[in-house]
Amino acid sequence: MSNAVMERTPAGEHKQRHTRNLAEWSRRPQLPDTHYVDTRVYTDPIIFREEIEKIFNRVWLPVCHESELPNPYDYRTASVAGFKPIVVVRGPDNKIRTFLNICPHRGNIIVRSPAGTLTKAEPSGNPKHMTCMFHGWQWDAFGRCAEIPREEQGYQGRVCKADVGLREIRTEVAHGGFVWVNLDDNCEPLADYIAGAFDFMSQELDTEPLEIFHYQKSVIRTNYKLWHETSREFYHDYMHYHNRATGMLQKGYFDRKYTVFPNGHAATGLTTIVYEAYEGNKDRVLTFPGMPKNGWKQVNIFPACTYSLRASCLRVSIMTPISERETLIEIRGLGLKRDTPQEREERIIDHDTIWGPFGRNLHEDLLAVQNQSIAMREGSGSKYLIMAREENSTIHDEIGLRSYFAEWTRRMGRMASDPTRLLED
Ligand code: FES
Ligand SMILES: [Fe+2]
Repeated sequence: MSNAVMERTPAGEHKQRHTRNLAEWSRRPQLPDTHYVDTRVYTDPIIFREEIEKIFNRVWLPVCHESELPNPYDYRTASVAGFKPIVVVRGPDNKIRTFLNICPHRGNIIVRSPAGTLTKAEPSGNPKHMTCMFHGWQWDAFGRCAEIPREEQGYQGRVCKADVGLREIRTEVAHGGFVWVNLDDNCEPLADYIAGAFDFMSQELDTEPLEIFHYQKSVIRTNYKLWHETSREFYHDYMHYHNRATGMLQKGYFDRKYTVFPNGHAATGLTTIVYEAYEGNKDRVLTFPGMPKNGWKQVNIFPACTYSLRASCLRVSIMTPISERETLIEIRGLGLKRDTPQEREERIIDHDTIWGPFGRNLHEDLLAVQNQSIAMREGSGSKYLIMAREENSTIHDEIGLRSYFAEWTRRMGRMASDPTRLLED
């Protein structure tokens, strides 16, 4: 006889046993399909490629903040949906546009700096143009080809500027001034995709302009979903000592509501953080329009973005999957554009106390997800993750994880609980 743990008898009693053999360990959890996930959704390279195609190439993704390109001709480069290089440009008409940052001639990257202004010419180009370093083709801030060196002599009208404009990508600026793009030319408007998930934070985000004061990026060795899940489940406040002291041990923590929205988005409602409960911390005096002092609200946007408005700082994290086991994380801290220097300094200190390199949060999450990733390597024996907590849609309810995987299943056409099972099966 094996040595499994608690076993449920037909009468519903639990029989105490201790460990499981391989067959028992490998058995599916006795839970609904919606309440657990097969670990292959985090590790299989074929599933990863399918996620890029079926999810990232079709949804709205935030890529930067409008304050990163404040003036006409300013630009910002990024990678989106895995590895697609893009350049975001503010045109002379003040409108922000996005282009695939790939030269139509022989495929080079066109704009190579992370950010800058087109008003300064590249060594071989003209001001106000984007110039490919390889053979000097140029485009204006609208993405129209403006120059092909020795065009007539080499192409005799067979290739002309009108044929080689840049690939323009659908772009909208919204929800606190973020620049959102969608690689699907036939996608729904951003507002339809968001489906009201930002409504409870719109006063804070959209009453007056915001400005970025912190940017940090790193590549971490884990699947993007595991990192995003650290923002979607709060049960792991048992790991974060700071969150336990300032939140979980405080009155009202377990009343915090969790709301899910269409398209896989989820929000955690307002709560108050008792910062003084952690030695060396203090009250957050500054806030955002309409936000009470020391308040905290959070929105998770499917598939890989989190807005966390915590007291004096808005922190927006965006994950870009690189492979099934590598993720680019970009974290931005924002305050109000009209902040005085003293106010800004205070917001930065508050921000870094939680999310800075020596803060109270990121390094603990990083340890957890990298260890998950190690434990899930192919052949390790890892099988299922349980997402079965139900606590009346309050903070430790795993409704946010389940809504994520319901959307994942819908878009992928595969069960997250068994990715070998297609939806039509
Ligand atoms: S590859 Fe860009 S100009 Fe030739
Ligand atoms: Fe965390």
